[in-house]
Amino acid sequence: MKDLAGKHLVLVLTGGVACYKAAELCRLLVKAGATVQVVMSDAAAQFITPVTMQALSQHPVRLSQWDADEPNAMGHINLTRAADAVLVAPCSADFMAKLAQGRADDLPSLLCLARPAQRVPLLLAPAMNREMWVHPATQRNLAQAVADGATVLGVGCGEQACGESGDGRMLEPQQILAAVVASFQPKLLQGQHVLVSAGPTYEAIDPVRGITNLSSGKMGFAIARAAREAGATVTLVAGPVHLATPAGVQRVDVVSAQNMLLAVMEQGQKATVFVSTAAVADWRPAQATDQKIKKDGSGQVPQLSFVENPDILATLAQSPRAQSGELFCVGFAAESHDLLANAQAKRLRKGVPLLVGNIGPATFGQDDNALLLVDAQGARELPRSDKLSLARELIADIASRISAKG
Ligand code: CTP
Repeated sequence: MKDLAGKHLVLVLTGGVACYKAAELCRLLVKAGATVQVVMSDAAAQFITPVTMQALSQHPVRLSQWDADEPNAMGHINLTRAADAVLVAPCSADFMAKLAQGRADDLPSLLCLARPAQRVPLLLAPAMNREMWVHPATQRNLAQAVADGATVLGVGCGEQACGESGDGRMLEPQQILAAVVASFQPKLLQGQHVLVSAGPTYEAIDPVRGITNLSSGKMGFAIARAAREAGATVTLVAGPVHLATPAGVQRVDVVSAQNMLLAVMEQGQKATVFVSTAAVADWRPAQATDQKIKKDGSGQVPQLSFVENPDILATLAQSPRAQSGELFCVGFAAESHDLLANAQAKRLRKGVPLLVGNIGPATFGQDDNALLLVDAQGARELPRSDKLSLARELIADIASRISAKG
């Protein structure tokens, strides 16, 4: 199922170089299943042609409140009545000022003012020069727009079209798409603080070698994203993986199991949910040498000895906050066989109320997975799907357990 299937969006472009990114954004929204009605200000039409936006959205672009094609001559009203959201991207400094003042002298500002505010969210993706962005007038207008119910998706930082560098770039189309998708997710974990561990750990043998495993971190990152979409504050403790941090998630990078334990114990002080998806290395070399181990030409291989790593999940599950019910701990089990029996045994061994089983070799590095949710009452299967869909189902399940508890 596409993330925006059945959603009707009004995409408003106001003046700015970032209009070139709105073309790609429109394409992504349509690809995600949305129907998109584009509206452009006069200034926006100086930067990109309505023809481009019509071709990408597959609908004629609305440019004026005086459009004779509207049978009742009320385009500004009609446009938002069937909409699920209005997205202004790019949202210029001038348009922000208009929103703050409730002005309505062109079609974009008219339709924003005339939208049914309780039902149709207004999402803003600002784009402007860094000096314009930090100007007190812009920040004042921004605060007013938020106070009046708009959601500001934030700005990017970096090189700007004007040659300067700083805050104020429009977010990338993929980031805006993710924010729009997130805005439609039910806020099941509002007020919760979710801590997720993800990825493998790396245990050094010497400065150039170590042992690790094939965990990609994708399931844990998907859970962090789903928890954030559900309104939680999210901290992600990640082993060495090359994955982008989901928007709005605080990330703490670690390397070894011992690093991960420290980070998880610290972050666990304020968390209300801990989801332990990390594939923690069970053992580490007893001594990591400071210098690279060299061959001495004799054909002798180094004799490595190992010590067991701390069990991070079991440690947190035994903590006073988990024992008192303030912290809900969820384990994962990567098994190669006998999933149900192994997951049930592991749940008891780890001392957690919920353990999620999956077949490790079948899922490591993949974009999809199948999960088995095991608790004291029994087991429930979440059939094979993409990891983000499964993560959202798991988050909904955790949310219902927390609300039943509290
Ligand atoms: N885990 C952990 N710390 C460890 C080992 C595992 O926190 N040192 C957590 C994992 O994040 C996961 C759960 O414990 O949530 C089970 O991990 P798994 O590797 O499947 O189990 P192990 O405890 O390592 O047991 P085994 O290798 O015997 O299956």
